[in-house]
Order: sequence, then C-alpha cells, then structure tokens
Amino acid sequence: MNGAQLQERARLIALAWETEHFGFPVARLAAQDLDDDAVQNELEHAYRQKTRLVVVICPQPRFLPQELLARFAGSLTDQKVTFARALGADVAAGVDGTIGEFTATEPTAELIDLAVASGVYSRFNVDVRFPRPLFLEMYRIWITRSVRREIADVVLIDRDESCPGGIAGFITLAVSAGVGKIGLIAVAEQARERGIGRRLMAASHRWMLDHGARETRVVTQLTNKPACALYERSGYAISAVENFYHFWPLAGAGDA
Ligand SMILES: CC(C)(COP(=O)(O)OP(=O)(O)OC[C@H]1O[C@@H](n2cnc3c(N)ncnc32)[C@H](O)[C@@H]1OP(=O)(O)O)[C@@H](O)C(=O)NCCC(=O)NCCS
Repeated sequence: MNGAQLQERARLIALAWETEHFGFPVARLAAQDLDDDAVQNELEHAYRQKTRLVVVICPQPRFLPQELLARFAGSLTDQKVTFARALGADVAAGVDGTIGEFTATEPTAELIDLAVASGVYSRFNVDVRFPRPLFLEMYRIWITRSVRREIADVVLIDRDESCPGGIAGFITLAVSAGVGKIGLIAVAEQARERGIGRRLMAASHRWMLDHGARETRVVTQLTNKPACALYERSGYAISAVENFYHFWPLAGAGDA
C-alpha cells in the first residue's frame, strides 16, 4: 500500500466501543470532504475488510446517491439535529415541586423502559438491519451509567404515582466547561402533551445554570416532531444538522 492509499484508508475510522459492544466490526466515515466516488472507494474497502457496519456522516444539505445505497445496503437512518440555547436571566428561579433528583445508583425497570422510549427515533432503532437486542442494551447501559453519575451529573425525574414506577418523566444532564448537555429525556406515554416535558426542561435549565452552564445543547432527530417542538418551545434554535447513513457492505453487492 503506498502513502496515498494509506492516507485514504485513514478516512475510515474503526469504532472500538461499538465493535466491542455490538460484537461485529463497525467503522465511521466523515464524508464532508469526500465526493461520492471517494465515499464509494471507502465502502469498497470496508467490504474487503469485512466491516459489517459503516456509519457515514454528511453535513446537510448533502445526501448520498441512491445507487450507492443500493449497492452497499445503505439507508439514511438519522437526520441528527443539534439544538442550542443560552442560559441566563430568563431561566426561572424556582423548580417545580414534583421534580427532583433520582438518587438511587441503579435504575428501576420503569426508568429503563423510559430510557428505551427516549431512543425510539434513534438510528439504532430506525435501522431495520440493526439487531434490536443491541438497541435495548445500549439504552439500558446509557441510563445505568447515567444514574451512577459516570456519564451524567444528574438524573431528574418528575414523580407521579399514577405513572409506571411513579415516574412521569425523566431527563439526564451533564455540565462541562460551561456547556450543559441533555442526554436522554422521555415522558411516560399516558402523561405526554400535558406540559411535563416543558417543566423538565425548565428544571434542567435551572440545574445547569446553578452548576456553571451558560449554554445548553441537546441532540435529536428531525423526524422526532414532538422532541423538536419541545426544544423549540423551550427556547432552543437549531445549530447543526447532519445526515447519518448506515451501510452494511457485506449485505449488499459490495465491490462487484
Ligand atoms: C418529546 C417528549 C419528551 C415531549 O414531552 P411532553 O411532556 O409530551 O411535552 P410537552 O407537553 O411539555 O409539550 C412541549 C411542546 O411540544 C409540543 N408537542 C408535544 N408533543 C407533540 C406532538 N406529538 N406533536 C406536536 N407537538 C408536540 C407541545 O404542543 C408543546 O408545545 P406548546 O407549549 O406550544 O403547546 C415526549 O413526546 C416523549 O417522551 N417522546 C418519546 C421520547 C423521545 O422522543 N424523547 C426525545 C429524545 S431526543
């Protein structure tokens, strides 16, 4: 392999965590500086390397051609949208009485169910080729590590005894370098569209401001209309949109 080929290969990055947890080789490709032919070269290489899943990321408005999708068993699985807002004087002082911290260090079964519900629009659930048990496990790990404070600083819940496990909704938060990040959020199905999402967002803004954040970000999918409405109504504006494709080269025609 010559120097130019090596450089080309470096575009395809092996994803260690995903490869270990999913049990098959996963790689990602940032396609912003690559034309369609270069993306095709990388997918051919992935096929030869027997990489099972390749995640290709294109900033909007770039979309990949249908023939590439057909040849390498690809699909647009996520139009990932990042929302952002500043935190300042307009953040309410008080926090709603039914909202408080989830203090246990293990999630309840009902909290795990809500965590899974927060991922229904995620590319790991939308992609029909992605094994469902792995999607469920990913969100179980996510909420477990959040309540243990490994990947979140706090988990807030809205208590309501009429909801499963007494939880009407939850949200996970982390603050770093003045930026607050919302990880997971969901409201119990029977309690939706009653303002609980708005109240959880307001409580989160207060918590993040009190813990040093001056701005906040949250990621969702353009197809998740309720979540997009919630964030817009909570004072956020879109800061970026990226198209995430999943390619399964071994399931397509590969480099034929
Ligand atoms: C997204 C979610 C948390 C919203 O919670 P909620 O308690 O139903 O939201 P609210 O009642 O506070 O509504 C907030 C705003 O969004 C709007 N909204 C809520 N659901 C909506 C829907 N299905 N369609 C359109 N707008 C909707 C509301 O009208 C409201 O706007 P308004 O204040 O102008 O009336 C909830 O739908 C949910 O749990 N979804 C599944 C999990 C999920 O997708 N989580 C997001 C992961 S990024």
